[in-house]
Amino acid sequence: MDKETVIRHILEGYSKQPKHLSGTFFAPSNIALCKYWGKKDAVLNLPTTSSLSISLDQLGARTTIRLQSGPADCIVLNGQPIDNNALFARNFSQFLDLFRFSQETYFSVKTDINIPVGAGLASSACGFAAAAGAMDALFGWQLSKEQLSIMARLGSGSASRSFWHGFVEWRAGDKPDGMDSHGIALDDQWSDLRIGLLVINASQKSLSSRVAMQQTVCTSPFYANWPVIHKEHLAHLKESIKNQDFLRFGRISETNALAMHAVMLAAIPPILYSEPKTIDAMRKVWRYREEGLALFFTQDAGPNLKLLFLKTDAPAIMNLFPDLIVVSPFRTSEIDGR
Ligand code: PMV
Repeated sequence: MDKETVIRHILEGYSKQPKHLSGTFFAPSNIALCKYWGKKDAVLNLPTTSSLSISLDQLGARTTIRLQSGPADCIVLNGQPIDNNALFARNFSQFLDLFRFSQETYFSVKTDINIPVGAGLASSACGFAAAAGAMDALFGWQLSKEQLSIMARLGSGSASRSFWHGFVEWRAGDKPDGMDSHGIALDDQWSDLRIGLLVINASQKSLSSRVAMQQTVCTSPFYANWPVIHKEHLAHLKESIKNQDFLRFGRISETNALAMHAVMLAAIPPILYSEPKTIDAMRKVWRYREEGLALFFTQDAGPNLKLLFLKTDAPAIMNLFPDLIVVSPFRTSEIDGR
């Protein structure tokens, strides 16, 4: 099945004429604690495993979309017009293609993303989620968050988790058209939980997660094991969240990330997102942990780390990592989108 068919299916009976002059939506970024790595359908971004994330409160993307006359889309990122040949613009325009209901439809997109773009800090997750939400606002469809999650997944898998605050599970689903593959918010709140973004290198990563994922699935001799250990991690992570057992929560999250990177390292050619400073930071975390600090990390498709800790240890940890961007994920509880 192709993406256009999925969109046609979701929008059956909905107007294809804009209801407003523009549509605006905010979507938070999200960091996976049990990762999505590998697809069973690379066109629809259907994952091999379910995954679980935490949203980053007010860090994310605010996007406004309006129709404009051609000859091309106009994309402005953080106040800078983006060259239509740049990777960011090409990926974005491909997603916009799904919403061109008549010929000669072009979009003007203004998006403000308040985290580094393309550095494994989940900018594509919030970017595609905000774009799907802005389309919904522009056309006045009032789709459910689950429907928006399915739409955003077509842009980037992790975007399916960016429609809720707090913990979100993206259930892999069984249906070949992916209609049951979307985010679901967990009820659990954990107000003392803190996420620290440790930016080691904010520049654009050299290998996209899309390419790295396929390369891992096709060539890593360890990939067959990934869904097996992942299933166990996911079940235990959910238990640790229910019980607010931070040590277990941190350990599973860190192990899941390291397992994902170990599987990648065995790919041909090998995939290594860590830089020397990433390894230094990991060792620092491990050393402080041995000394008694409840501190863990997770890492995505980039050199940056995200630290996991509790409010009581925040002052000490901010002292040890002075440039850390600290997020309180349960500060905001509702996404109004606008
Ligand atoms: O959604 P993508 O294609 O950007 O892939 C995201 C992959 C990871 O960030 C490494 C894991 C995840 O679940 O977000």
